[in-house]
Amino acid sequence: MTFYVSTPIYYVNGAPHIGHAYTTMVADAMARYYRQAGHDVFFQTGTDEHGLKVQREAEKQGITPQQLADNNSSLFAKLFEELEITHDRFIRTTEEAHHKVVTEVVNRMKANDDIYLDRYAGWYASSDEAFYGEDEIEDGKAIATGANVEWVEEESYFFRLSKYQEPLLKYYKENPSALLPDVRRNEVIAFLEGGLRDLSISRTTFDWGIRFPGDEKHVLYVWVDALTNYITGVDAFQDNGRYDKFWPCDCHLIGKDILRFHAVYWPAFLLSAGLEPPKQIFAHGWWLNEGEKMSKSKGNFLDAFALAKDYPLDVLRYYLMREVPFGNDGNFVQARLIERNNSELADNVGNLVNRTLKMAQRFLSGACPAFEETSAEEDVAIRKQAVETRDAIAAHMEAREPHKALEVLMAFSGNLNQYVHHSQPWALNKQGNTERLKQVLYHALEGIRWVGVLGHAFLPNATSHLLKGLGAEDVVAAAALSTVDKFGGLQEGTTITPPDVLFHKLELPKEEGEEQEQEKEAKKSNKKDKGNKKEKEKKSEGEEAKAGVITYDRFMDVEIHVGLILTAENIKKSDKLLQLTVDVGEENPRPIVAGIALSFAPEDLVNQRIAVVTNLKPAKIFGRRSEGMLLAAETTDGKLELARYSEAVAPGTRIR
Ligand code: MSP
Repeated sequence: MTFYVSTPIYYVNGAPHIGHAYTTMVADAMARYYRQAGHDVFFQTGTDEHGLKVQREAEKQGITPQQLADNNSSLFAKLFEELEITHDRFIRTTEEAHHKVVTEVVNRMKANDDIYLDRYAGWYASSDEAFYGEDEIEDGKAIATGANVEWVEEESYFFRLSKYQEPLLKYYKENPSALLPDVRRNEVIAFLEGGLRDLSISRTTFDWGIRFPGDEKHVLYVWVDALTNYITGVDAFQDNGRYDKFWPCDCHLIGKDILRFHAVYWPAFLLSAGLEPPKQIFAHGWWLNEGEKMSKSKGNFLDAFALAKDYPLDVLRYYLMREVPFGNDGNFVQARLIERNNSELADNVGNLVNRTLKMAQRFLSGACPAFEETSAEEDVAIRKQAVETRDAIAAHMEAREPHKALEVLMAFSGNLNQYVHHSQPWALNKQGNTERLKQVLYHALEGIRWVGVLGHAFLPNATSHLLKGLGAEDVVAAAALSTVDKFGGLQEGTTITPPDVLFHKLELPKEEGEEQEQEKEAKKSNKKDKGNKKEKEKKSEGEEAKAGVITYDRFMDVEIHVGLILTAENIKKSDKLLQLTVDVGEENPRPIVAGIALSFAPEDLVNQRIAVVTNLKPAKIFGRRSEGMLLAAETTDGKLELARYSEAVAPGTRIR
């Protein structure tokens, strides 16, 4: 089976930003996934180098358009290298091979009597490289995009787009999965139903582009040139078999900004040239930067290189693919990325891998035990969930829902975490119950292997370390989906080596302004009152306390985590105290003595998820060591209530 996925080719009039990185990362995850599934994948990305927009930017910079294209195209290529994108081809529209394919497509359109010469008089927006009708502009701008428009009047070749209104309507109605998500298909269908105007496809007033075949005066409209990249990439009109193998494309991933070009013009051009339309176009949403639309004038583009430098690649991929349902708009918020990294990647997956592999190393000398088809309810559940997770991920990837694939993956990892908590391998080890210890650790290790394989397309680096920790020598082979055809693939005797921390916790950097303010304040007080520093500090702490405020840093000094109560029992001779053991996401649960016996029976506490302060100095209470404090509130009638969390929150998750 083959699978062809493409990204748009990016304009070379500027440097890459988050939007470009986003589409390419999602396409990369798809390409990796289908490779894991055993498909022969072709993944293409590249740069769109012709057109008025590029010519004007080059003029502004005082260089030739070709120089501008060379400079910026190599920036995109470099970015994709840094992002470890696994494309098979990086295409440039200034390549000779592309020139030939475009010329052939136009000649075929001509032969099909779909092109005629006329005069164009209308509006054009060079930043969109798009023509607009009177009804689509307001105050000199395109309503849809806000781009400035200019009046153009010149001789032009036209493509008979109107002829394709009916065939396209029929195509989308008969093939709903050819255009996703549904909302975009409906939009395109409504547009098609409104009727199509023929399209001007050549210009005579600038020259940075491919010449119109047979009329050198004209330069081809950049979208005819750009869209054709998708078939140049698979060697259209050559006899090497690649075109027949990969075309029609399985999925053109695009942003919703370029929907009409892809969903209306492109299939019409192909039909006119006697070629098949793509199998699918998927238009995703738009990213905002901390709530704001990114624009040149605001200078708030999230630079893709900076993102690649600031965050581990897996974390960036995870955040972008998990944060928004694919297709919807998203809002890039650094604090959210950090939160997802800390509580989902580090606390859930990282913690699971770290403690399970360490236990296997310590309790079983790092040798994987044998798989047994045990009948314990919780073991059966893990085996069932593994298979269900695999199948759900396959279905979500087919439906182009990477966010859901990640959601089920994380849920499975969370379940494995709980399985470890409940099964308490550390206690089994202590009791010398080796048989059960081996069964439990096998299920946990094999479950982790499934997380590694099923998460590999999204988190390639972390899962590679994970799989190596489970003995994989060749990660590509170890990540094949065929290795998770049934539970129990991890071989007895495999050497288990805990990897280095998979996901480090991240912190929000101090805002530049905040630091400067603090410095300014410090300087001011220094000048005013040099000799009295200590007094001053005391005073300002006092003032802070009086005002009832503390800094964020002071709050963050207190570590509060979700704790799962594993055991609870009364302490003899004490009415008020209970002895608890609480799992706060560490290798061993903590003993905690809590003064809550008047409000709770011990059995009501077991399995509850509560809030625990974990960095208080350990205390001796009633002769027993206590390594944490529970958070509780008093009811109006003097009883205590605990802050509780549902099962959706894994033990060890930080509360902030
Ligand atoms: N050159 C054309 C595409 C030709 S394809 C035959 C073009 N290039 S572009 O450089 O402007 O890139 C557009 C694509 O970049 C969008 O379709 C989308 O894939 C991505 N994004 C650009 N900005 C974006 C956001 N703010 N958010 C998400 N993706 C966006 O149009």
